[in-house]
Amino acid sequence: MASKTAVGIDIGGTGIKGGLVDLDEGKLLSDRIKVATPQGAEPPDVLAAVVKVLAQLGVEDPSVPLGVAFPAIVKSGRTLSAANVSPKWIDFEAEKFFEDGLGRDIHFANDADVAGIAEVRYGAARGKDGLTILTTLGTGIGSALLYNGVLIPNSELGHVQRAKHGKDAEAYAAYSAMERDELSWAEWSARLQWYYSHIEFLFSPDLFIVGGGVSKHADEFLPLLDLKTPIVPAVHRNNAGIIGAAALALG
Ligand code: BGC
Repeated sequence: MASKTAVGIDIGGTGIKGGLVDLDEGKLLSDRIKVATPQGAEPPDVLAAVVKVLAQLGVEDPSVPLGVAFPAIVKSGRTLSAANVSPKWIDFEAEKFFEDGLGRDIHFANDADVAGIAEVRYGAARGKDGLTILTTLGTGIGSALLYNGVLIPNSELGHVQRAKHGKDAEAYAAYSAMERDELSWAEWSARLQWYYSHIEFLFSPDLFIVGGGVSKHADEFLPLLDLKTPIVPAVHRNNAGIIGAAALALG
């Protein structure tokens, strides 16, 4: 094993992904394991799925550092929201729940925030001054605010309101909305244009980074956007969450 190795688990609204990560290089050392997020995403079922991923990775040994990323506001180990998972996670001692259930210490944080950490340490935000906003386009929209390389946690920019339909931006512009409404790349890009223009107006960032599974198709939609701010795919695409969660485990 590499000198600095940790496991990252990225819990999403649709899939739970994991891998063993070389933290010197910020690269996966193992296959990327993925299981479906259980229907309803209740705490015991999510825990069982995480156990399954760890077993498939062969990293049940509690001495291997483990970071877990979760799609909710995370403050002092508690989950405070639940947009795409069971409401049982609201105001829940999630970090302790996983530690008790897995029989090991973990590091626990928001999924988009850890993707931001991965991109600052090993990717598109490395060495960037000013404000970088990473967004993940998946089941929801996650966000990480990075100012001069420092993370400002729990920004939740998927939940800015879209006055026209009185709903969260993520219900209109996440990748799941493209799938749900069977949109073409051009139709989805029109929604992304609204979203990124709005965020650009609110924050005047220096760089946008786009993560989530769909970032591997960045060529299909990023060129269709007209923004003042440069917008680039996450270097680690959909693995940024795994890598960032693992990075967090070693501090
Ligand atoms: C949640 C965020 C999360 C994002 C991406 C949103 O619905 O509120 O906490 O980062 O989805 O998973």
